[in-house]
Amino acid sequence: MPIGTTITEFIIQEQRRMKNVTGNFTALINDVVIACKSISSAVRYGSLVGVLGTADTENIQGETQKKLDVISNNLFIRRTEWGGQVAGLASEEMNNVYQLPLQYPRGKYLLVFDPLDGSSNSDVNGAVGTIFSILRRPDDSSGEPTEEDFLQPGTRQVCGGYALYGPSTMMVLTTGHGVNGFTLDQRIGEFILTNPDMRIPEDSHDFSINASYMRFWDPPVRRYIDECLAGREGPRRKDFNMRWAGAMIADIHRVLCQGGVFMYPIDRKLRAKNQEGKLRLLYEANPMSFIVEQAGGLSTTGTQRIMELEPTGLHQRCSVIMGSKSEVERIISYHLEAQ
Ligand code: AHG
Ligand code: MN
Ligand code: MN
Repeated sequence: MPIGTTITEFIIQEQRRMKNVTGNFTALINDVVIACKSISSAVRYGSLVGVLGTADTENIQGETQKKLDVISNNLFIRRTEWGGQVAGLASEEMNNVYQLPLQYPRGKYLLVFDPLDGSSNSDVNGAVGTIFSILRRPDDSSGEPTEEDFLQPGTRQVCGGYALYGPSTMMVLTTGHGVNGFTLDQRIGEFILTNPDMRIPEDSHDFSINASYMRFWDPPVRRYIDECLAGREGPRRKDFNMRWAGAMIADIHRVLCQGGVFMYPIDRKLRAKNQEGKLRLLYEANPMSFIVEQAGGLSTTGTQRIMELEPTGLHQRCSVIMGSKSEVERIISYHLEAQ
């Protein structure tokens, strides 16, 4: 039986190729891996251990938290705060930057995460996941990290990754040298490299968007989807297929494997609420954009590269369009034409 490469072995080999590495990054990834294995286990037991349903609390975005949102957030903190690699944490489920307990040493990294993406899927045994982004603490920052320290454009990410809790649990990550996917081997409790050097297929027929918001869309988005819907008889001269999992992590994972575009664009309804989008820049859009770009795809708001946006707040939102290069290029051109 062939013995696969574990995620730890893979990261250590990758780090050995670089200069001046201290092992801090490898240690941090190891803790993130354990956090995701713990969340995977909590998600897996579902109704058996009473972790499903709402928690009767709201997060900063005014969204009702699921019990699993709170549990996952706590697991992620607990597994990553102690080792001396991070200086501070921030997540979807916490209003402000999380200050590490005094007894733990402060490290050079900042970790920002969506502990459970697509959490409403957990009530229907659908796919959910964890998204994370690792940043370097700015050189000029001292004392406890502030919100300001986290407000770095996506281009400055050291690592972007996600764990997808589907029929199998997968971890997909990039450190800026391509994208690699690992599958949790439940028999030995380790992530094994199963999807080396993932590339988004160019030739695709899939689009992923919540079509119930169609009446609110901007004309360029409407035009792109209308042309897809027109199929073989329309200007694209081919039939398309629509998919919407309700968890960006599951939808973008499919795009990584099979090509296509994922969109949660700005629309009239979001503008009326004074929102720049639905998805959050620092812990949803940026890490997923890093992965998509490293896999040969593109990621945009429609008019701007997502990873070049200058964040102004921890929970800032943005318009999201990402996936196969040629499709995203087409959508960008429709936005340019409309301007
Ligand atoms: P979260 O569960 O972390 O709040 O994220 C859910 C997000 C995203 O993953 C998904 O694509 C989108 O919200 C679904 O929104 P709609 O219900 O508006 O389709
Ligand atoms: Mn999310
Ligand atoms: Mn979430």
